[in-house]
Amino acid sequence: MAYIRTPIDSQVTYRRQCRSSPRCIVVALSVSFIAFNWIAFHAFKSQFSFDDNYNPLSTDSSGKPLPPNWLDTATERSRGYRASKDWQGQWYRWRALNPSKIEQRTDDLTKFDIVYTWVNGSDPLFQTMRLDSQTNHPMFQKYLRENAKQIDTTTKRRYRDMDELRYSLRSTIDYASNLFRRIHIVTTEVAPNQPQIPSWLIEKPDSPVQIVSHNTIFRNSSHLPSYNSLAIESQFVNIPDLTDIFMYMNDDIFLGLKLLPSDLWTPLYGYVLHMEASLLIPPIVRYFDPNAITVGEWHSLQYSNYLLSQRFGPRHRAYIAHVIHVLSVSMLKEIQSIWPKELEMTSAHQFRGEGQGKDIHVSFFTAHYIMEKLRETQLESFWQYRLDTNQDGILDWEERRVLIDRINVWNVNQDQPKYARRQHSRPTMIHAHKTTLDRIGIRMSGTTVYRQSGLDGFPHLLRNADTSKTIPTETVKDKNGKDVLPQWPYGNYEPVNDRKCKLDVNFCFGLDFVDPTYPQIPAEHAKRIFSRLAFKEFHCGDCLLEILMQDPYRGGMGAWMPEDETSEAFANVVEKVARYNYVLGTSDYSFMALQGAKGAKKDLDNLLARRDQKAFFCINDDFPDDPVVENEIQTLFKDFLDTRFPLPSPYEKIE
Ligand SMILES: *[C@@H]1O[C@H](CO)[C@@H](O)[C@H](O)[C@H]1NC(C)=O
Ligand SMILES: *[C@@H]1O[C@H](CO)[C@@H](O)[C@H](O)[C@H]1NC(C)=O
Repeated sequence: MAYIRTPIDSQVTYRRQCRSSPRCIVVALSVSFIAFNWIAFHAFKSQFSFDDNYNPLSTDSSGKPLPPNWLDTATERSRGYRASKDWQGQWYRWRALNPSKIEQRTDDLTKFDIVYTWVNGSDPLFQTMRLDSQTNHPMFQKYLRENAKQIDTTTKRRYRDMDELRYSLRSTIDYASNLFRRIHIVTTEVAPNQPQIPSWLIEKPDSPVQIVSHNTIFRNSSHLPSYNSLAIESQFVNIPDLTDIFMYMNDDIFLGLKLLPSDLWTPLYGYVLHMEASLLIPPIVRYFDPNAITVGEWHSLQYSNYLLSQRFGPRHRAYIAHVIHVLSVSMLKEIQSIWPKELEMTSAHQFRGEGQGKDIHVSFFTAHYIMEKLRETQLESFWQYRLDTNQDGILDWEERRVLIDRINVWNVNQDQPKYARRQHSRPTMIHAHKTTLDRIGIRMSGTTVYRQSGLDGFPHLLRNADTSKTIPTETVKDKNGKDVLPQWPYGNYEPVNDRKCKLDVNFCFGLDFVDPTYPQIPAEHAKRIFSRLAFKEFHCGDCLLEILMQDPYRGGMGAWMPEDETSEAFANVVEKVARYNYVLGTSDYSFMALQGAKGAKKDLDNLLARRDQKAFFCINDDFPDDPVVENEIQTLFKDFLDTRFPLPSPYEKIE
């Protein structure tokens, strides 16, 4: 059984990864229009505010200063590689690699753990417990009276156990045995100290497959029992003995091709994030239906993006592909220290939809947090160490003029034909990454293709963003009366040197900055300009970063990293880059919902026929609560799984 059922699930069914072909873009756009229409006919009300004096770099979400040592610096060791300014600095700054300097640990820490969430919804003890919780829960009082049958059907579907975990686990053994160190199955307790255990699982203290009870990981046990996957995910940070980087799997996800650690993270290129750049989440909470019985992912995604937007700027952010989620304990700890109240609230929501769906969506949140932090690191480093040449905190006219001149040259260059713009382009960060990784003994599985590195500029920079004004957060009507986004970001597939942007210095930096008669911008004022440019007017910050990285003459890492490679500043920036480094990766996958027997047979046969292509597939049971249909589909599904994953895993009892 799996938790996550979303209203958009059926719309992304069978959507293939889009290259930038026109047909694909049309498909991608229409998928997004559907999503937007779904929410857009509800009155739009802006809830977004951004305080110009708010300093997002050093406070938590309620404005309390973060402790000076809030970054946990032990990260790198727990990833199996020892951080060293030596090799990392040379690598980021010059793409120079000295394999002998990379101290790689040979123990199993170079592998990552896998976390599953699972409950057995068919267990009568679980059903009684759930019914009990619902009966006592204010959110359900009304429905229990009015609509008992409907609620029963939806929850039944949500918790139906079709033995997915057994086969999903077989798929990870078949395809990811070189990736994982340990598998943690996070599950509920149906009685004190009695977690649910899959009937087929061989339990041994030293087994790599371990059961972790919700009671172990919930910091506040008064929030239990929990039926809200988002609440459970919010507590992953407390799973004992978890590798820093881990893969989160739902039991309705099956692997179909080989996975290696490099599908999640590498010491050279960082996290591998899977994003759906064609499906965007708005930066504001547009709509919440207090009467909805089932609550999909949308509310938590919107709420999460609302929180991210308050800190990093109000942009539409990409849906995180419903495949393999890479998570990290150290990132979760960071998020926890910045949004403690919000995570506590998420944990307290026993059922999804409680508290107006104000839940942090951990996978979405973490991925975007990483992207934003790398961007912040780059921009901040430029602002602090390169723009302010003499490091006195004050921006004098000469310092500003250098930047303004450079931007003017860039802007003119943007109107040149592509071949002229590309003439001097430097190799991207991920250029020849396979051979480079090979040099330090890391293999790629071929299942994930690295598309873009966050170090080459912000990947989801807006297409032709108008940097002379603020980007509207709401949709606009197109000529057919449809609600559309005024500006779309670049996707995962565009080569970085195809991207274009022009930076309006007057709007982005403000009139003081561009005024030669204004001799000195004091430090406090400079900070405000930075905060506005980098976050509030995020399209300005994106374009500045693009200029820093892609300027054919002076662009590259040297444009924003501290110049003196022996300085403490350089070491600090390197440490942050190592922490937040990422690439966007893509893999071929299928997402399907079993709705009727006939369609299900066709879809499942199709999956078998394409077994060499699909890296992952996710199968939802979405069929009606009719015993005949149920029986038929369950038989089909079981046949499919037995054909696809016939070999019992070493952790299964022999029956
Ligand atoms: C789920 O619970 C049912 C009923 O107790 C049991 O028959 C079944 O074996 C359980 N499934 C798993 C995977 O443990
Ligand atoms: C535990 O959660 C409850 C309900 O949300 C709250 O009232 C209580 O203060 C929390 N306890 C702690 C120790 O945080």
